Amino acid sequence: MSRAPRQIFVTTALPYANGTFHIGHIMEYIQADIWVRFQRMQGNAVNFVGADDAHGAPIMIAAEKAGKTPQQFVADIAAGRKQYLDGFLIEYDNWHSTDSPENHALAGAIYQHLQAAGLIESRRIEQFYDPQKGMFLPDRFIKGECPECHAADQYGDNCEVCSAVYAPTELINPYSALTGARPELRESEHLFFRLSDARCIDFLKTWTASGAVQPEVLHKISEWLAAGDDGKAKIGDWDISRDAPYFGIEIPGHKGKYFYVWLDAPVGYLASLKNLLEKRGESYDEYMAQPHLEQYHFIGKDIITFHTLFWPAMLHFSGRKVPDGVFVHGFMTVNGGEKMSKSRGTGLDPLKYLALDMNPEWLRYYLAAKLSAKNEDVDFTPADFMARVNADLIGKYVNIASRAAGFINRRFGGRLAALDAEGQALIDALRAPLPEITQNYEAREYGRAVRAIMALCDRVNVYVDTHKPWALAKAAENDARLHAVCSTCIEAFHILTIYLAPILPRLAAQAAHFLMVPPPTFEHALKNLGAGAQIGEYQHLMQRVVQKQLDDLFGTQPTAAPAEKGKKEKAPQKAAAPAAAADGSISIKDFQAIDMRAARIVECSRVEGSDKLLRLVLDAGEKDASGAPHLRQVFSGIAAQYTPEELCGKLCVLLANIAARKMRFGTSEGMVLCASGADDTPYLLQLPEGVQPGMRVS
Ligand code: MSP
Ligand code: ZN
Repeated sequence: MSRAPRQIFVTTALPYANGTFHIGHIMEYIQADIWVRFQRMQGNAVNFVGADDAHGAPIMIAAEKAGKTPQQFVADIAAGRKQYLDGFLIEYDNWHSTDSPENHALAGAIYQHLQAAGLIESRRIEQFYDPQKGMFLPDRFIKGECPECHAADQYGDNCEVCSAVYAPTELINPYSALTGARPELRESEHLFFRLSDARCIDFLKTWTASGAVQPEVLHKISEWLAAGDDGKAKIGDWDISRDAPYFGIEIPGHKGKYFYVWLDAPVGYLASLKNLLEKRGESYDEYMAQPHLEQYHFIGKDIITFHTLFWPAMLHFSGRKVPDGVFVHGFMTVNGGEKMSKSRGTGLDPLKYLALDMNPEWLRYYLAAKLSAKNEDVDFTPADFMARVNADLIGKYVNIASRAAGFINRRFGGRLAALDAEGQALIDALRAPLPEITQNYEAREYGRAVRAIMALCDRVNVYVDTHKPWALAKAAENDARLHAVCSTCIEAFHILTIYLAPILPRLAAQAAHFLMVPPPTFEHALKNLGAGAQIGEYQHLMQRVVQKQLDDLFGTQPTAAPAEKGKKEKAPQKAAAPAAAADGSISIKDFQAIDMRAARIVECSRVEGSDKLLRLVLDAGEKDASGAPHLRQVFSGIAAQYTPEELCGKLCVLLANIAARKMRFGTSEGMVLCASGADDTPYLLQLPEGVQPGMRVS
């Protein structure tokens, strides 16, 4: 690991300075923050910056409504950022603004270079103008009747009723959303970035295919670069100017004309970096000139074109370094895909989360467990959140330390023993997947990394359950054994903590304090703490999520069981047909109608003619009339995920009272429960050893 550190420049999209952060922003920042922390733990040098996107007509108008200057308005928004970032342990090296001297200078310079390259063209265009307000109207400030379905009060670019897309000039009876006045068409000179120039198209084809974007994103943008019927690329030239009054950067040589906000917004990445380096007394130009500098942008799926077409072209044709990667994530939804408004967010208010004393690392862990490198949406489901945090993070990982540390402290003066062969073998097994785990972090496959780490936690817990330190502790003659077993657990906890540190930085720091080791890097995972190593007093590392917190967070009342008395007139609910109430809740009775049982997989095989299905033979503790064990056959679509060998002997959850289903391959007498995310990859729910087949799951 003694190679030169990589030099990496990382950004997240710059949020509009007309609102506070919502949970979608926080998700993006957590995704990037995990990656940055991972890179640093690998010994790489990272500059991680953000900024407010301050310019544009909507912000200018919002400021006016608030009775503030735009500068004051965005400064007030900026002042509110820190509590979110600190609260969720998101550690930018700098947070700046696009309305800064650095950005004014850089945007002007980039424009002049594009002009010198012959890529700026001036044209006269016709646009709607509000005579009362004295300004040209952006599309979203023009309303009128939809030309397609005739719905009233639709926006200038598309109809929310029938989804038709049109030009504002096609609206019937258009009016200004600002004053209600009838807009008039006026001519004005606009500046265009000639993206349709063959040089731009050629460059963009090369850049987008260079591995800088995810395959699914490439697929999407290829359409824009592909030639239409006329043999020319579909992508048109880009209107980069707006007329005064506009809150933005005045275009050099064009008094009264301003850069369209999306021109100077990404330049803000560079402005924030420049501001950071200059504060440190370093040279921005020298930093950017490093031949191996890597530049990455984390963004959401709604702003792909700006980052994969306009921005790289602006950089390239102004003689600057182009991004090495644009990492696109999907949208965060809450409660099964409930749509979140870009400006208003959802029911999950990040500040409320913090105010309820909910642990930011719960959210970081939950999001990490669900994030992949793909541009796919991530859903927050309260029950899922609680299960992952309590059962996995605390149940599987945190408990390893709490189960072992007490014995080491109370019985062995806080010092570790040498491991025996079995303990060392376990530790070696935990180390073996280090390359796979770091690779998954590097590739932003956090969900995979988390699954691999949790599988390792399972192994440690099996070790603990096998050796039962609490039982060993009962007889003094077992002392040496107890010491070795608990030391193994602490060594294991140390390694697992390093693996999780990019996701759980605060917990990792607390754990490092308790283990009396320096802040972890991945290299530290390769060495035992060792015999004689001293550890500190164990302090509880993390609380469990309680239902009340989630109820409070979403402002929902806890669902009380329906009162039985005095409701005789109401027809009793049929247990077999649980019906959800209007708010989606079910009663405990409805839940009890579902018969879930622990079952052991006694046989498992592939199904000929299906690459999806596995055939499981399950012992769910049932007996037939003669008292002989009755086994069930169940088909499950998990063949891509599991081999028959690895499942044989495992304990799973059987949904026992679902109607039997005749399939091409035989009858399936029940269902085994799996968890799956947006990509539908199933994870078989497995039960810990000690559970007996037939036990009820409730
Ligand atoms: N100001 C522009 C970005 C300029 S970048 C040079 C902007 N701002 S935004 O505040 O609307 O969005 C900021 C980021 O948050 C974007 O990456 C956007 O995709 C992301 N998200 C907005 N809503 C989101 C979700 N619901 N979920 C996840 N990310 C979301 O666009
Ligand atoms: Zn319509």
